[in-house]
Amino acid sequence: MIASNYTTHAPLLKWVNEIAALCTPDAIEWCDGSQEEWDRLTTLMVERGTFTRLNPAKRPNSFLARSTPSDVARVEERTFICSKRPDQAGSTNRWADPVEMRSLLIGKFKGSMKGRTMYIIPFCMGPVDSPLAKIGVEISDSPYVVVNMRIMCHMGARVLKQLEDEASGVSAKKRDGHGQFIPCLHSVGAPLEEGAPDTSWPCNDDKYIVHFPETREIMSYGSGYGGNALLGKKCLALRIASNIAREHRWMAEHMLIVGIHAPDGTRTYITAAFPSACGKTNLAMLIPPKAYLDAGWKTSIVGDDIAWLWPHGDGKLHAINPETGFFGVAPGTAYETNPIAMESMKENTIFTNVGLTDDGDVWWEGMTPDAPTHLIDWTGQDWTPDCGRTAAHANARFTAPAVQCPTIDPEWQNPEGVPIDAIVFGGRRPTTMPLIYQAFNWSHGVYVGATMGSEMTAAAAGIIGKVRRDPMAMLPFCGYNMGAYFGHWLEMRRYITNLPRFFHVNWFRKSEDGKFLWPGYGENMRVLEWIVKRCHGSAAGYETQIGWTPAFEDFNIEGLEGFTREDYDKVMAFNRAEWKAELVSQGELFIDLYDDLPKELIFQRELLAARLS
Ligand code: GTP
Ligand code: SPV
Ligand code: MN
Repeated sequence: MIASNYTTHAPLLKWVNEIAALCTPDAIEWCDGSQEEWDRLTTLMVERGTFTRLNPAKRPNSFLARSTPSDVARVEERTFICSKRPDQAGSTNRWADPVEMRSLLIGKFKGSMKGRTMYIIPFCMGPVDSPLAKIGVEISDSPYVVVNMRIMCHMGARVLKQLEDEASGVSAKKRDGHGQFIPCLHSVGAPLEEGAPDTSWPCNDDKYIVHFPETREIMSYGSGYGGNALLGKKCLALRIASNIAREHRWMAEHMLIVGIHAPDGTRTYITAAFPSACGKTNLAMLIPPKAYLDAGWKTSIVGDDIAWLWPHGDGKLHAINPETGFFGVAPGTAYETNPIAMESMKENTIFTNVGLTDDGDVWWEGMTPDAPTHLIDWTGQDWTPDCGRTAAHANARFTAPAVQCPTIDPEWQNPEGVPIDAIVFGGRRPTTMPLIYQAFNWSHGVYVGATMGSEMTAAAAGIIGKVRRDPMAMLPFCGYNMGAYFGHWLEMRRYITNLPRFFHVNWFRKSEDGKFLWPGYGENMRVLEWIVKRCHGSAAGYETQIGWTPAFEDFNIEGLEGFTREDYDKVMAFNRAEWKAELVSQGELFIDLYDDLPKELIFQRELLAARLS
């Protein structure tokens, strides 16, 4: 039994005692989020071989972790939504009966922390004073989780105090869920027998990432990696939050939030939903091309992965980023492609599954034009450029504090969020989709988001060239029925007076010989400029079958060397045959969701068909 002097929050104490009795850890620690705690746990992990301390002269207070090759990414096929009935989870989710799943998991968690320390991690997603803030408590047997959570969200003693003050009435009611916490139970599932040696990355091949939407609980077993283990992120801030949001008229979305500062002094905030590894971090940290910088344009970042949006009292949709750090894809990140990300991870950063250079720094594919002649790769083996393996895993990540980002928006912790003028959807589409188009209205915008997708690459283990539909980039993250989720999007229109505009972008269109038709990255500013001006009514649009598009004359290519009108026509081309195929392919998603699909979207599809004919 834990003494009650650890917390005055009786339900928390009760839950902690229950979990301790179930998981039978050797020790229990309440995490306070202090520097002392970080130093102690990082040192402990260095001693155990989980962490390698990077060269303090090159990368102060930073560490490299190597996971086991079987635990390198989220496991969608082991992710469950345990609502009462299967139709509440819907056909795009994996459903399991909540009672059966709970008893199965209790069996798994029984004794699962033997020989380990159980960490109690109070955390808050969102600025603590925000009406949308959600307090959770993660119980985990992984010190890697503790230090990552310290970067990724508000964590520790001040959150516990907030929760206690809410429960005891000292703190006035500001947020929904006042005085309550979301229980998040996590174990790597690797109990240690007395005297047995530990591995540097304990985990279990049997994995369960489980959500109970009705009781707002999360249980995760067997994995120590990313979204599987940092339960505030995808599990709470998207899957559970999407359920809460639906009931309370707000939205939990897989979106970046970026501010665009125009030369006239106006600031426009936009959110964008792209599927995983499709460029959210890059767009959120965009540096405009020289001609734009000279003219006075700049961007600022509020968030790079998750946005919580609600109809604010001022009539606009507002957004907060519930996170305080970036868990970004490392490979491909370089001073050339994303200097802001590179600057954000200069110190106090955790790197997972990247290469370790001979001088104690990190390296990954694409970081520099020339690879080091020797390093230790993510599997811990010697690596040379000709060895036939990659130095970093394709899903290697950096965990960096958002406060270290040079372009962090001054309002990023404003509890009232930032006002949103545009919602952008996009994915990897080598064909069909033009660089940019604007939806006709809210309902059409929801249709554009609902039907968005990304073409499968060889890596996605699907049929190459086939589009994987990923509605609003939420396919793996919507915690309830996707058809009902579309209905919620459509309904939200009623509660917003000053509506944001909807757009669809595609940085990934290719020529017949397989080359990108658009330079992307910083040059995406040109697309953002048109979006911003459309929001303020100061740019012309040209009505096409699919939506509003910029005419060449209205699209700024100043300073874009070698990009001609012909190039523009190619990246913007509307190909009727491709769109007919697109319409048919979108129909497959609608068949899968038929039972719960809002009529409005069926009509939107009809309207598109009519415009195409
Ligand atoms: P999650 O963190 O997984 O949700 O993903 P994310 O959307 O934040 O992904 P991220 O920004 O890390 O995406 C990186 C990938 O997108 C890399 O392969 C980049 O090279 C590619 N990318 C980003 N922006 C552009 C662009 O403008 N053009 C092209 N061609 N590729 C881009
Ligand atoms: C994603 O897969 O969309 C991520 C990484 O942002 S993880 O947090 O591991 O889910
Ligand atoms: Mn993501």
